Amino acid sequence: MSLRLGDTAPNFKIATTTGEIDFHEWAGDSWVFFFSHPADFTPVCTTEMGRTAQLDAEFTARNVKPLGLSTDTVEEHLKWIKDVDDTQNTSLKFPIVADKDHKVAQLYSMIHPGESETAAVRSVFIIDPDKKIRLTMTYPMSVGRNFTEMLRVIDALQLSDEKGIATPADWKKGDKVIIPPSVSNDKAKDLFPNGWDELRPYLRLTKV
Ligand code: BEZ
Repeated sequence: MSLRLGDTAPNFKIATTTGEIDFHEWAGDSWVFFFSHPADFTPVCTTEMGRTAQLDAEFTARNVKPLGLSTDTVEEHLKWIKDVDDTQNTSLKFPIVADKDHKVAQLYSMIHPGESETAAVRSVFIIDPDKKIRLTMTYPMSVGRNFTEMLRVIDALQLSDEKGIATPADWKKGDKVIIPPSVSNDKAKDLFPNGWDELRPYLRLTKV
């Protein structure tokens, strides 16, 4: 069965480009952006790996560790990283899992036989410091992910945890947020002393 939101991210031990890792130990108290891609030395994947490396400071600022995966070997990954660095003008430092025997790809349901029997699709798992899966996304092989969206959902999840709010469609950092219907107006007065706009009793927007 596929993994669901709120499940504990399954642990695994595996070789990566920065050495063998025990996933839970490696994650420690950080959030994790765990993303798979179909294969080394392919064009879309090269741009995605490069973009993740370019955004290193953005991930660090959010206490997020990126972890890549494809069903290739460490040796292949290391050769490919040189190409990624060269073509994307970056310096890729985060680990890439070498999942040649599909052990982790199967565990996380990253192989979708309708796309490929042997390569992982573009799965994303955002995992919190308690090792809970907080967000999943699955993209086909032909579509590169939007990394602005990857950072946006991390911002939204972290703000929701911190302030007990929800975020509206297309929300981005600094925009108004939603007071969840489970919070009464009395409670909201304590939590959001600057008040809110009430468009409907169930739709209250505030600044945090
Ligand atoms: C790519 O990364 O460009 C790619 C990989 C596998 C299938 C299609 C595209």
